[in-house]
Amino acid sequence: MADRIFIFDTTLRDGEQSPGASMNVEEKRRIARQLERLGVDVIEAGFPIASLGDFEAVKAVAGDITDCSVAGLCRASVKDIDRAWEALSGAADPRIHTFIATSPIHMKHKLNMTPDAVLAAAVSAVSHAANYTSNVEWSAEDAGRSDLDFLCQIVEAVIKAGAKTVNIPDTVGYTLPHEFGERIRYLMDHVPNIDQAILSVHCHNDLGLAVANSLAAINHGARQVECTINGLGERAGNASLEEVVMSLRTRRDIMPYQCRINTTEITNTSRLVSGITGFTVQPNKAIVGANAFAHEAGIHQDGVLKEATTYEIMTPESVGLSANRMVLGKHSGRHAFKDRLKALGYTLNQEDLDRAFIRFKDLADKKQELFDEDLEALVEDEIIRGTEYFKLLRIHVASGTQDTPVAAVEMEIRGEHAQGAGWGTGTVDAAFKSIRALIPEAKGAQLDLYRVEAITGGTDAQAKVVVRLMKAGVSVQGVGAHNDVIEASARAYVNALNKLVQKRDKPLKNQKGI
Ligand code: KIV
Ligand code: ZN
Repeated sequence: MADRIFIFDTTLRDGEQSPGASMNVEEKRRIARQLERLGVDVIEAGFPIASLGDFEAVKAVAGDITDCSVAGLCRASVKDIDRAWEALSGAADPRIHTFIATSPIHMKHKLNMTPDAVLAAAVSAVSHAANYTSNVEWSAEDAGRSDLDFLCQIVEAVIKAGAKTVNIPDTVGYTLPHEFGERIRYLMDHVPNIDQAILSVHCHNDLGLAVANSLAAINHGARQVECTINGLGERAGNASLEEVVMSLRTRRDIMPYQCRINTTEITNTSRLVSGITGFTVQPNKAIVGANAFAHEAGIHQDGVLKEATTYEIMTPESVGLSANRMVLGKHSGRHAFKDRLKALGYTLNQEDLDRAFIRFKDLADKKQELFDEDLEALVEDEIIRGTEYFKLLRIHVASGTQDTPVAAVEMEIRGEHAQGAGWGTGTVDAAFKSIRALIPEAKGAQLDLYRVEAITGGTDAQAKVVVRLMKAGVSVQGVGAHNDVIEASARAYVNALNKLVQKRDKPLKNQKGI
């Protein structure tokens, strides 16, 4: 299938390696289901041996997903591969993805192995994985800086050992597009059995070239692209899925390839990932930024009104952005609400729907126009909060130019009613202190990030607050949304504390070797 490009999404694995972007099992399952709707070919769900949380997430995603392959990452070791298989074996189409570094710098300083030993380890890892499944992918970590002839030799050997996909990562985002394209061409021309595997690329964005490098690789023979939603990923991130896919779609005239992505699900997917990870998409981000389809200059607006293609190379509808942005209002009924949520990818059970609808009516009373973003924030805040050991019932704050800010809170702590009060340098500080005083687990949890943003325009907009906490090496993110900034902040803080407790007993991720 010369013209088919396979899209391998690694938001749940490499994406999760963005500092602070950790996701719990339920969150990963929701993202995976949305990726399946989006139409990716492979979901890399995690690194099963790295932690119990990763193992459980891969296993759960493997059990949920039927319409695409589910991959688990493992190093070139029997233990890693066995653990990955344990997590993946229930999948409809499991893929074992094993990797080892091949660049001189990694082999010498990180692995302390000779090239011959690396080759032997790669072959034995692939052979071991191939005993479980024929769907084996092998990656040459730091291939962008590896010796090309060694790369050819090891690629030939792993294909012989059973690798059906061979991935060439630019792990450190070092290469330039023409150079990376030539690397792919060299492999295509010099590996005798290359036709027996799909050549894949995995580009990091340290120089802002991940998408350009991926496209150059396609032009030279790569047929799988590894990417992430919103370009999440280690350091500066990975190639952004939406940019790769929309480049292919928009420039089919000179890149005649096909993938099976349903591009109208791009916006929903981007918002879901951003909502769960708390990583806001920059407004000028291609494809999914708030301004990606906004025409500001008068001359542009005039042109677009006369003929959209004057300044628009793709339509907002093609990425699932509705032209009519105001979606629901005070008079909208339960049906319209349910339908809109379904279109946004949320299917709620009756009890959750009732709860969300009450909250929706309350919001619609306060805010004239409700947009998709409002509904998403509402559902994220009200329904999808994971296990709640602690619940905020009520908060009251008082402050003024001359007064000390104070807060009083009422909470449910593990089913018991509790109340407390505190003061602070501002109302948010006072609110957090009063919550902290009621929750022993909050002790020692350092606030690494507090961010507030308006979900839509207008002073009646809902505030969305992201709180990142760090305790004993575990980092979690909580989100809260409400018309009132203080209540949104308190909800985000409580959400983060709940996640901290959920994660508490799980071992830390061992990222050695990645
Ligand atoms: O960047 C990289 O090299 C990776 C591999 C483990 C595929 O993420
Ligand atoms: Zn990577």
